[in-house]
Amino acid sequence: MTTQPTDPGKRTSITSAADIDLNDWDFWGRPDEEREHAFRLLRDLDKPAFFPEPEFSLGGITGPGYHALVRHADILEASRNPEVFCSGDGGATNIPDLPAEFAEYFGSMINMDDPRHARLRRIVSRAFTPKMIKQFESDVDAAASRIVDELLETGPGCDFVTEVAARLPLKIICDMMGIPEKDYRFVFDRSNIVLGATDPEYVSERADIAHALLTAGMELQQLVQDLAALRMETPTDDLTSSLVNANIDGERLTAQELGSFFILLVVAGNETTRNAISHGMRLLTVNPEQRRLWLEDFEGRAPRAIEEIVRLAAPVNYMRRKVTRDHEMNGNLYRKGEKVLLYYWAANRDERVFDDPLRFDIRRDPNPHVGFGGPGPHFCLGAHLARREITAMFRELLRRVPQIEAGEPERLLSSFINGIKHMTCEF
Ligand code: HEM
Repeated sequence: MTTQPTDPGKRTSITSAADIDLNDWDFWGRPDEEREHAFRLLRDLDKPAFFPEPEFSLGGITGPGYHALVRHADILEASRNPEVFCSGDGGATNIPDLPAEFAEYFGSMINMDDPRHARLRRIVSRAFTPKMIKQFESDVDAAASRIVDELLETGPGCDFVTEVAARLPLKIICDMMGIPEKDYRFVFDRSNIVLGATDPEYVSERADIAHALLTAGMELQQLVQDLAALRMETPTDDLTSSLVNANIDGERLTAQELGSFFILLVVAGNETTRNAISHGMRLLTVNPEQRRLWLEDFEGRAPRAIEEIVRLAAPVNYMRRKVTRDHEMNGNLYRKGEKVLLYYWAANRDERVFDDPLRFDIRRDPNPHVGFGGPGPHFCLGAHLARREITAMFRELLRRVPQIEAGEPERLLSSFINGIKHMTCEF
């Protein structure tokens, strides 16, 4: 979900933390180096900066504001303490609270606390264990190989994001759920709306954001509920069948739970992995010595290289928590009702934890990044799958098109997703 529409302001140069306004839309259009500089200034403050809540067009209640958690230590501690820093009560994927009508579509477990969260996570997590992921390893490999076949047919100059990076996660999630190939494009377009609604390419008028989000949510829900009706009558071995038919403990998802879980999967699993692959391609292009290293021993170096890509890409820029009671953490007071934003992108560049943090180093070890979230109940359910997909994609690319290079990325205008919309490639 994406939630920070304010009018573009005039760009001023950032010389101190006082110049930084994370609510200013213009800030998120700045180049990476300026963002890096700004977040370093924020990390060096004695305590997290506090920002008032932005004006928001979806119609939710406007709260007092949020603390920007940008240090690794703060993010770890807040993630570990969901009783104080909760994900429910208005949602974890947006700064202002979500209005009630959004819960129907966007109210899945990422926006819940235990015990409701634990129940849903228990039911769906069986599909995401390393053992289960291993079962469709060969599907992931075959899909990556086909994408590179088609890239070679299309030839250089094409859009790496739409022709390569976006296709693998989309296909895998749709296959897992049992969504047929003819509907891939439908799912792709709706997931772009849900996560890219603040970018004019996906939603033309800011005033239309609420309507566009709800329509996309409704359409995705309808798609999976129609499928669920078929699978209740005739189950197959797909995830939809196992979620709507009772498992051995007698647990199953209701139609509404299935709908919002599917929306969560397509938005959480698509854009994130797509952006990790695109950022990875760009990182390998601007760091040719790292590409050479990886080519020397692809399999041996892949596990650390993937973590390093996710660290620097940090496709999910932040998640939100709401403070449930007055609480002191690392010397700072957080008051009931305030919010905290866990800026993973910034924590992954924290010089207190990472040596030379801006350096892309595929052998980095240890690498305790928080790109998949901090330690706690909401740690990314799809992390194994994402690692598997990113590895398969780069294995195929580096084996068959080892000289492939990415052009300048065209960034998504979003404070929530560190996205690349388009990026040409040459080989
Ligand atoms: C590089 C790729 C990915 C990144 C960077 C990423 C990042 C994240 C982050 C930061 C969270 C934490 C949310 C929080 O603490 O509030 C999360 C949760 C989640 N992710 Fe991922 N993710 C990725 C891929 C995937 C994939 C492939 C799937 C599934 C197909 C997936 C499904 C989920 C789900 C369902 C949750 C919610 C878990 C819960 O609330 O218990 N993610 N992800």
